[in-house]
Amino acid sequence: MAMTTPATRPANPRFSSGPCAKPPVFDLTKLASAPLGRSHRAAPGKAKLLEAIETTRDVLGVPDDYKIGIVPASDTGAYEMAMWTMLGERPVEMVAWESFGAGWVTDAVKQLKIDHTVHTAEYGEIVDMSALNYDNDVCFTWNGTTSGVRMPNGDMIPGDRKGLTLCDATSAAFAMDLPWDKLDVTTFSWQKVLGGEAAHGMLILSPRAVERLESYTPAWPLPKIFRLTKGGKLIDGIFKGETINTPSMLCVEDYLVALDWAKSVGGLKGLIARADANAGAVADFVAAHDWIDFLALDPATRSNTSVCLKFSDDRIADGPAFAKAVAKRLADENVALDVGAYRDAPAGLRIWCGGTVETSDIDAMLPWLAWAFDTEIEAQMASA
Ligand SMILES: Cc1ncc(COP(=O)(O)O)c(C=O)c1O
Repeated sequence: MAMTTPATRPANPRFSSGPCAKPPVFDLTKLASAPLGRSHRAAPGKAKLLEAIETTRDVLGVPDDYKIGIVPASDTGAYEMAMWTMLGERPVEMVAWESFGAGWVTDAVKQLKIDHTVHTAEYGEIVDMSALNYDNDVCFTWNGTTSGVRMPNGDMIPGDRKGLTLCDATSAAFAMDLPWDKLDVTTFSWQKVLGGEAAHGMLILSPRAVERLESYTPAWPLPKIFRLTKGGKLIDGIFKGETINTPSMLCVEDYLVALDWAKSVGGLKGLIARADANAGAVADFVAAHDWIDFLALDPATRSNTSVCLKFSDDRIADGPAFAKAVAKRLADENVALDVGAYRDAPAGLRIWCGGTVETSDIDAMLPWLAWAFDTEIEAQMASA
């Protein structure tokens, strides 16, 4: 028996967890004033880069005495730049509860080979952040994009810590409240919550992080692309838009358009409310269907951006194959693109709920998820 398809489709089927849906108002003509074919060091380019930095500060509420820089190689570039320039001065606590955090653990343990303690948790769980030694440096990811598990808040991080906290906030910035007084280094990329383009990363430094950079020289060589100091002093220009190497002014323009849209929906508060509404719609669906559940075990740690779901139905014979088949049915119907779980994560679905996604699209997509599940169960039974 063929299942009846739902009557409506989402206007935008893009629910990818990165690059994420562009702001609803986006179209390519909005990039027309990018200073293309001009030097990024000429006045118009520099003004755009500085505007990107200061609007980021404004929307995210970054304190005035924190430095914000635009750096190469997206979030990976920003986070590794911080690790390579600041770690090694003291032991480090490496914290991971999913794939991206695990990648930073590999950096510290196998590449930098610094004195370390590793704290990990399984997919769906979170590390006990109160059990860390904050006299050491601490590296962690605020929102685990591949497990949908996030920090509920920063209360466990002491204000009077001696070490630095290095926070990968790629899928958290612009969707969650980040407690700046608890974060010494914060990084993210444009391609995530605001639906910008990849390639550039943001590096946000507290005064203590700057102090570390100016007082400590790592034992290993640093490529030019990672160098943040010269003669023991911070290269201040990097934090005023004088980028280390050439940025894409098209990407910068696109980020400015996204920031402008962010302000139009109420800034950070508005963005958080949009993500919460999207994740709430998914939560209502999960509550109403006994064959699907969150990967995150503790509701307090459930992400409002990368919402990771698992199927929990005894009739499913092969979990990974089933989840892939459901994701394929959704993509083939053009109702939900790129919603398969991350390649290293447990089988399931991952639905991006960041603020650029419209709740009406989540609402229109969810009946299709029920349809795809029922259709796949039926297909599986028929072939058994
Ligand atoms: C938590 C986290 N860290 C790092 C990255 C890597 O980001 P990028 O590819 O922009 O460097 C991602 C991308 O999905 C992420 O979600």
